[in-house]
Amino acid sequence: MEKPFAGNYRILLWFVFLSANILFLLFLSIDYSSTISTNHVNVHVESRTDNAYVESRIDVITKQADFEQNLNPKSDVDLCLGRYIYLHDLPAQFNDEVLKNCHLLTRKTDKFDMCQSTENFGFGPKIENSYGVLSNTSWFSTNQFLLEVIFHNRMKKYECLTNDSSIASAIFVPFYAGLDLRRYLWGFKASVRDSSGLALVKWLAEKPEWKKMWGRDHFLVAGRISRDFRRQSDSNSDWGSKFRFLPESENISMISIESSSWNNDFAIPYPTYFHPSKDSEVSQWQDRMRWQKREYLFSFAGAPRSRHKGSIRANVIDQCKTSSKSCKFLDCSDGANNCDDPVNVMKVFVSSAFCIQPPGDSLTRRSIFDSMLAGCIPVFLDPGSAYTQYTWHLPKNYSKYSVFIPGKLLRDKKFRIEERLLQVSKEEEIAMREEVINLIPSIIYADSKSKLERVEDAFDLAVQGILERIETIRKVE
Ligand SMILES: *[C@@H]1O[C@H](CO)[C@@H](O)[C@H](O)[C@H]1NC(C)=O
Ligand SMILES: *[C@@H]1O[C@H](CO)[C@@H](O)[C@H](O)[C@H]1NC(C)=O
Ligand SMILES: *[C@@H]1O[C@H](CO)[C@@H](O)[C@H](O)[C@H]1NC(C)=O
Ligand SMILES: *[C@@H]1O[C@H](CO)[C@@H](O)[C@H](O)[C@H]1NC(C)=O
Repeated sequence: MEKPFAGNYRILLWFVFLSANILFLLFLSIDYSSTISTNHVNVHVESRTDNAYVESRIDVITKQADFEQNLNPKSDVDLCLGRYIYLHDLPAQFNDEVLKNCHLLTRKTDKFDMCQSTENFGFGPKIENSYGVLSNTSWFSTNQFLLEVIFHNRMKKYECLTNDSSIASAIFVPFYAGLDLRRYLWGFKASVRDSSGLALVKWLAEKPEWKKMWGRDHFLVAGRISRDFRRQSDSNSDWGSKFRFLPESENISMISIESSSWNNDFAIPYPTYFHPSKDSEVSQWQDRMRWQKREYLFSFAGAPRSRHKGSIRANVIDQCKTSSKSCKFLDCSDGANNCDDPVNVMKVFVSSAFCIQPPGDSLTRRSIFDSMLAGCIPVFLDPGSAYTQYTWHLPKNYSKYSVFIPGKLLRDKKFRIEERLLQVSKEEEIAMREEVINLIPSIIYADSKSKLERVEDAFDLAVQGILERIETIRKVE
């Protein structure tokens, strides 16, 4: 994937030319306050606005650039141009204090301790021994709800942060929206669930950064599904908060693990258990997945949803049990304790050619990304489980990396998943697996302690996606 404005001389020239032209046009128009594009390249047009002047300036700049290029090929191009992000310094109540009071995040029924989950910059406790299932370093018991902390810590190390919000292409708001809400989801009044969101937008709207685009260049990240922030009524029995229905919030783009059909929500991968700090750790894992022996044709790791009797999920589990030679079912019901240990889960995925990913309480599941990390080809039953969600991270042509079985086919008791998968030729299977393995870098969140050099990870792609998105809004305005 191409980085915009990589150190390319032709791009610089083109940019200088374009900036000069834009400047020329700008001086003809009267009311234009933004000077973003002029801050980085030495184009100074003082009072004269005639074409000859601009052209001669271009000439000088071009020669100067030429000269500097020869001296030092890197010094003259601002690699951060168009990628500057301003990180809002929020009051601690919106992020750090949520972590400090982590005991409020763990529910009695949880099998994990959220205080432990917040360790290691949000990756959770290190996996000390995987009995050979995983590689020896960089694996953690990562909780899916910690994405907002993981993302924030990566952003603190982002190479194009700026303290000058006037040159920033985007404003990042490190509000731990999902964790904050988690404290009040059960047994609290709707108004309590809404309180932090209300305080946040009040704080944001009073800042000078807000007025530039009325928040439309702001973004935040939530480790919950978007629907949790879109409570439709003020009834206390309704689920979630109404954060995303607040007028200010509607102007902010929100990245989350599952987006909704509202146009200001964008989905990025759930965090997996793998957070490498070196490129070589990634390529070694990819190689290992290429040669991994896969004894099961397909597998399913999940719990039957007793509330949804006769659901697709129940059908998938039945089919897996009756194809027991070719299918592995990992029962994740509360009593079974199979899925609390990442090693158990990954062991099943690395031993399977295909991994069935039916919708659960919502359309997406973290298991999609854990299984892809294991080189297991995902089988989707609903387009909303991935194809319409992770458009910044997964190929548009979903046949390249996955199998789609329309969920309604499973209502026909005669339809066999096993038969359908056996129709996939060996060549097709190998090609899909290779594509999945090549996607591994794009779906992992690398360790913020040391940035990967060559690999663009899920964070990098998310930042590119949001910058492009905000650029589009800026152009429309
Ligand atoms: C990984 O750990 C196992 C068990 O501790 C050890 O036998 C093995 O040599 C280690 N592998 C590498 C590459 O360090
Ligand atoms: C922004 O300002 C803070 C506090 O003065 C400083 O610690 C930080 O390094 C600055 N960041 C950048 C990108 O200049
Ligand atoms: C949201 O953005 C629109 C369009 O830029 C603007 O008119 C509106 O005032 C903004 N809302 C708030 C609450 O700032
Ligand atoms: C999508 O990928 C499949 C599998 O590689 C290929 O057969 C098909 O032609 C592709 N479709 C498009 C529209 O590129």
